[in-house]
Amino acid sequence: MARKLNMSLFIVAILAAALHCSVAQRTHVVGNSLGWTVPPGGPTAYSTWASQQTFSVGDVLVFNFTTGTHDVAEVTRSSFDGCNTTSPMSLNTNGPANITLMTAGEHHYICTFSGHCNVGQKLAINVSAAPSTSPAPQPGPATPPPVPAPSPSRTPQTYVVGDSLGWLVPPGGPIAYQTWASNKTFVVGDVLVFNFTSGAHNVAVVTSKAAYDSCNTSATSTTITTSPARINLTNPGEHFYICTFPQHCSLGQKLAINVTGTASTPSPTPSPATPPSSPTPAPAPSSPGATPPSPSGSTTPAPSGSTTPSTPSTPSPSGVSAPPPPSSAPSFAVAALPFTFLSIVLALFY
Ligand SMILES: *[C@@H]1O[C@H](CO)[C@@H](O)[C@H](O)[C@H]1NC(C)=O
Ligand SMILES: *[C@@H]1O[C@H](CO)[C@@H](O)[C@H](O)[C@H]1NC(C)=O
Ligand SMILES: *[C@@H]1O[C@H](CO)[C@@H](O)[C@H](O)[C@H]1NC(C)=O
Ligand SMILES: *[C@@H]1O[C@H](CO)[C@@H](O)[C@H](O)[C@H]1NC(C)=O
Ligand SMILES: *[C@@H]1O[C@H](CO)[C@@H](O)[C@H](O)[C@H]1NC(C)=O
Ligand SMILES: *[C@@H]1O[C@H](CO)[C@@H](O)[C@H](O)[C@H]1NC(C)=O
Ligand SMILES: *[C@@H]1O[C@H](CO)[C@@H](O)[C@H](O)[C@H]1NC(C)=O
Ligand SMILES: *[C@@H]1O[C@H](CO)[C@@H](O)[C@H](O)[C@H]1NC(C)=O
Ligand SMILES: *[C@@H]1O[C@H](CO)[C@@H](O)[C@H](O)[C@H]1NC(C)=O
Repeated sequence: MARKLNMSLFIVAILAAALHCSVAQRTHVVGNSLGWTVPPGGPTAYSTWASQQTFSVGDVLVFNFTTGTHDVAEVTRSSFDGCNTTSPMSLNTNGPANITLMTAGEHHYICTFSGHCNVGQKLAINVSAAPSTSPAPQPGPATPPPVPAPSPSRTPQTYVVGDSLGWLVPPGGPIAYQTWASNKTFVVGDVLVFNFTSGAHNVAVVTSKAAYDSCNTSATSTTITTSPARINLTNPGEHFYICTFPQHCSLGQKLAINVTGTASTPSPTPSPATPPSSPTPAPAPSSPGATPPSPSGSTTPAPSGSTTPSTPSTPSPSGVSAPPPPSSAPSFAVAALPFTFLSIVLALFY
């Protein structure tokens, strides 16, 4: 049995070496039965599909579309991000289009028909150099998975959802808020600010992931209709927000975040700005469910009731528009620092 398996692997290895990369290892029908089209659920359709595949050099992508209604272009990352159809690296106008993956790395594909990419007909994949043989058993020691778990001990932060984009039907589909949330950490005590045009949008707290995925506007617990809507993250776990205006959620006005345990020690110290000098933080529990939720249970943000600032440490509600997007703040500060220093030095000399 083992001998036979070894023989099979040997033959596969010989064949792979002989044919090198010219052989097509696998065929991936993009989007499966959906095909290559304007996805009903926005770009998550293709990013979700891609996340369930492994791509290797030599594999074939089948873009299944009707000639004349769509096409497929390989583009650069920036053209992918901006849905720029000006000068693609390649263009296939006949469907179905089979594209063999010739190089490792990231590959980006869009439809160049007007508006199609913007509403989600776009695909980004990572191609690995290794040919995709059947997973061979690795007798060596398993590589330890590096899981750097950042300890969630920091001062509470206020996030303006989407930064300068605000809260609207995003031009790039749901990926906009997904991307915005992807490199942020949300901790109990943080505040989300939804900045939108009152009357044109709202913010509803969705009660389940299923309702979020299907944009079920009936399954909401709280709806805030006046902007800016401030939502305090009081409970750990997954939180889902949508706009309940018709089609807004399905076009991408939806946000899902993961909130981890408490930001700082919940002891009611009157001055939380400067933590006490003890440098050893309390060992945070690894599972978010270990921290007991606040007695109020559900998040019931009352936008009108936020005018009672009991804690003087946080800025007053009138200062909502003051903080710039958090991503731009550090770089600005760093850039301004040498200039300030130079000014002081010059002032001393003159
Ligand atoms: C392409 O789409 C057509 C129409 O939906 C379908 O009949 C066909 O099976 C699809 N081809 C592949 C390779 O999935
Ligand atoms: C689109 O790409 C072309 C070619 O790379 C470039 O000249 C043009 O400025 C881009 N347009 C936008 C809006 O970024
Ligand atoms: C493209 O791939 C599909 C699925 O493997 C196959 O049925 C079809 O014949 C291919 N078309 C071309 C032109 O190679
Ligand atoms: C591809 O992999 C790199 C490195 O892991 C990652 O930064 C990038 O986001 C991935 N791109 C896609 C489209 O998955
Ligand atoms: C939407 O949510 C409501 C309330 O939870 C539920 O009664 C209804 O069946 C849901 N609708 C769909 C289409 O899932
Ligand atoms: C939250 O975390 C869980 C477990 O890691 C994960 O399955 C889920 O996709 C995450 N949700 C979001 C919105 O990031
Ligand atoms: C949210 O937190 C702020 C302080 O950050 C507080 O003034 C406000 O009352 C809280 N709102 C709710 C609804 O808990
Ligand atoms: C909210 O949006 C308006 C209009 O786009 C903008 O002037 C204001 O600065 C934004 N506020 C925040 C907190 O981002
Ligand atoms: C988060 O991602 C955005 C866009 O991908 C980027 O502009 C920003 O600098 C990132 N912020 C951090 C803190 O990594």
